[in-house]
Amino acid sequence: MEGKRWSQNVSLFLVIFFIPLLFHELQASPEYSRPPPRRIIYTPHDRPDSHPQQVHISLGGKDHMRVSWLTIDKSVPSIVEYGKISGKYESSATGEHTSYRYFFYSSGKIHHVKIGPLESDTTYYYRCGGFGDEFTFKTPPSTFPIEFSVAGDLGQTEWTAATLAHVNKTDYDVLLLPGDLSYADSQQPLWDTFGRFVEPYASHRPWMVTQGNHEIESFPIIHTQAFKAYNARWPMPFHESGSTSNLYYSFDVAGVHIIMLGSYTDFNSHSAQFKWLEADLAMVDRGRTPWLVVLVHAPWYSTNTAHQGEGDSMRNALEELLYKARVDIVFAGHVHAYERFTRVFDNKANSCGPVYVTIGDGGNREGLALMFKKPPSPLSLFREASFGHGRLRVLNRTHAHWSWHRNDDSDSTVADDVWLESLSKSKLCEETVKAQIPSVSLNDEL
Ligand SMILES: [Fe+2]
Repeated sequence: MEGKRWSQNVSLFLVIFFIPLLFHELQASPEYSRPPPRRIIYTPHDRPDSHPQQVHISLGGKDHMRVSWLTIDKSVPSIVEYGKISGKYESSATGEHTSYRYFFYSSGKIHHVKIGPLESDTTYYYRCGGFGDEFTFKTPPSTFPIEFSVAGDLGQTEWTAATLAHVNKTDYDVLLLPGDLSYADSQQPLWDTFGRFVEPYASHRPWMVTQGNHEIESFPIIHTQAFKAYNARWPMPFHESGSTSNLYYSFDVAGVHIIMLGSYTDFNSHSAQFKWLEADLAMVDRGRTPWLVVLVHAPWYSTNTAHQGEGDSMRNALEELLYKARVDIVFAGHVHAYERFTRVFDNKANSCGPVYVTIGDGGNREGLALMFKKPPSPLSLFREASFGHGRLRVLNRTHAHWSWHRNDDSDSTVADDVWLESLSKSKLCEETVKAQIPSVSLNDEL
């Protein structure tokens, strides 16, 4: 009996201390040093067990929203009541629930309920499971203008709190997150603290996420299932977009088609992701969605010394598909800094290629990636190792304004901004891309 307890204690020790340490070391890159990170905020569970915690919402297909939350009490039903007047719920919907185990950790009951049809640009009030506080959100508009907040590699530190406070000062419509959410790194209670940490923001506006390396959480032999917590907690509308995996999907909002790709699942030309992407791009109607935006985790273009080259194989596999489709912007995370490129295709400036932006600077516990390659590349128009977030205001069918807001401690300062013109209207690009002459390199017009 004693021997069994001792071996259990040793196993617990390995899970709690050794594996996260190993995981962290695997992520760390020795080529650059980062400033001391700010402390992690451990948001406590302080509600009754039947009350919802970690409430967050995401777009769930046309005119629908998915409401996700967790209860400790397993008897709470997966029901959401909602309406346009506070306290008066004229509609309700029933959804599904799940839970998962990870070594010695058992999750609470994780609820996912799709509600709708909802009116656009409208405030709704809702209650989860029939217990606890009322929450509220606003649906995105059905037409331009629309505003996106973009922040990657969030974590749950004091820096993250500053970033989200700045994000929350604007009346944005949808948050886009290009991977690396909680930085739990196998310590599952950190997924719970993260869910509680982001709830004030993620219950209020739809958060559309894709996954990063910190979501993988698999180990050879002892835990081979990747993305277990991520898939259980953050389901995205993959069914709704014809995908068979939560790791890649797309959605339309106002006149923007957004594609979320998976940097850590197969993307070669025989893969399910490649075939899905090809089919998804073929269905894009630029008359209906003039703007085409893609998110990945590991950047395809970066002049930071951190994680150099890690996105190359994905770029080699998929860049031509995006170029042919005349994608407007590609956002990436992973590198903890900000960088904006000119329009690029195949490592050359090309006015028919996407603008590439790295925005992995949400504020996680690992700190910043301070070192950039020298001399600077002429393709890289702005680069800075600071925490912050981005805003993409799509004003109409042709013009959008992108800005990057650096965290200056308690203030948010616009450090970079640019007007963008959609490629959907460019006859020259349409003809150039159709003619498959990627070597035609045009001066960038930004
Ligand atoms: Fe990452």
